[in-house]
Amino acid sequence: MVEGGAPGAGRRLLVLGAGPAQLGLLRAARTRDLFVIAADRDASAVGFPLADRRAVISAEDEQAIARLAEAEHVDGLIAPGTDWPVAIAARVAERLGLPHPISPDTATAATSKPRQRELLQEAGVPQPRWMFGRSPEEEAIPPPCVVKPPDRQGQRGLSVVHDRQELADAVERANAESRTGGWLVEQLIDGPEITVNGFSLDGRFHTLTVTDRLVAEPPAFGVALAHAWPSEQEPGAIAADAARALGIENGPTYTQIRFAADGPKVIEVAARLGGGHDAELCQAAIGVDLNGAAIAAALGEPIDEDALIARPRAGGACTRFLVAPRGVLEAVDGFMEAQAAPCVLDVRLYRPPGHRFGPLRTGPDRAGAIIATGATRDGALANADAAAERITFRVT
Ligand SMILES: Nc1ncnc2c1ncn2[C@@H]1O[C@H](COP(=O)(O)OP(=O)(O)OP(=O)(O)O)[C@@H](O)[C@H]1O
Ligand SMILES: [Mg+2]
Repeated sequence: MVEGGAPGAGRRLLVLGAGPAQLGLLRAARTRDLFVIAADRDASAVGFPLADRRAVISAEDEQAIARLAEAEHVDGLIAPGTDWPVAIAARVAERLGLPHPISPDTATAATSKPRQRELLQEAGVPQPRWMFGRSPEEEAIPPPCVVKPPDRQGQRGLSVVHDRQELADAVERANAESRTGGWLVEQLIDGPEITVNGFSLDGRFHTLTVTDRLVAEPPAFGVALAHAWPSEQEPGAIAADAARALGIENGPTYTQIRFAADGPKVIEVAARLGGGHDAELCQAAIGVDLNGAAIAAALGEPIDEDALIARPRAGGACTRFLVAPRGVLEAVDGFMEAQAAPCVLDVRLYRPPGHRFGPLRTGPDRAGAIIATGATRDGALANADAAAERITFRVT
């Protein structure tokens, strides 16, 4: 079902997804002379009001996306913030002869954790020891280890295993969530974690923001509660090497890295903008319009290298996620007050009233986010905390 206003004069961009992870890009697209078509399976997706036309179609339905892109005569496709549609965007772009920053092969590799691990291994990029299993008899990496589906995100089907007895259940969970079958077992890398948001231009990798990923306490595992800039960790060239290993020569990358005692290891590379409002954090921190650069790459427009040069605008910046108590959401109090709090750039709420919040286990269990700046990294976090205190999720 497609509905919405008349086409404008501008170029036509198809955005896969209109949820919280796509909000920033949809907002950035509005400030340009573009006609934006957004596709999301959820008719009440928070980003739909920002699009010129909305298509209530799953961003993961490749046939439907291909038909939509053709019917709408789009000039480019982009899948910000979510993994699976990254490959769909690349394949559909190729099929329609549209420019695209990465090839279908690269995009498909980036959205397969085992394929990505193979390519990183071939290129000698440091990563956890890993094995991809397909049958229960296979000998796994011994605990402590991490078990995950080969092709999911948002911590779906992801478990940390400390004890051999927990392994079988973890494997079953990962296999059940897998789209293509099988599971990945990885050595648990213990140590601080960062995200490198980068952008490649004709094979030259530009490091934009390096943020600390601050994660939730157990029983949650790997769920980010904040991304804070600047990080004190020094990743060196590992994110650039990882992007090159996957064949990413143009466009944005989002690389998760954990620091073990013997150095940094790549947890995962995504050939896209980060889904935790990373591009907006980048703009606030170093003044680089990462959303704009990603849109330009999706439309095949030239990008001036100068646009990727960091010009720090604040001493610190962060995205701090909001967590609601368990229950059915009735209302959110204090939203305006939080927006008006010192150094707050934006407050985003992910769920409408009526949504049922469960325990915090995965990224999609989060209730919203605050983007804030400060004199330092910790100052930004303190400003975001102060704003978060003004918000009350009323649940029953
Ligand atoms: N091998 C590992 N060692 C240590 N921590 C890990 C490992 N694998 C995953 N994690 C933790 O879990 C988080 C999510 O991992 P991963 O990206 O593989 O899963 P995902 O479902 O794709 O999640 P996301 O949507 O956050 O990318 C990581 O950021 C990290 O904190
Ligand atoms: Mg991931």
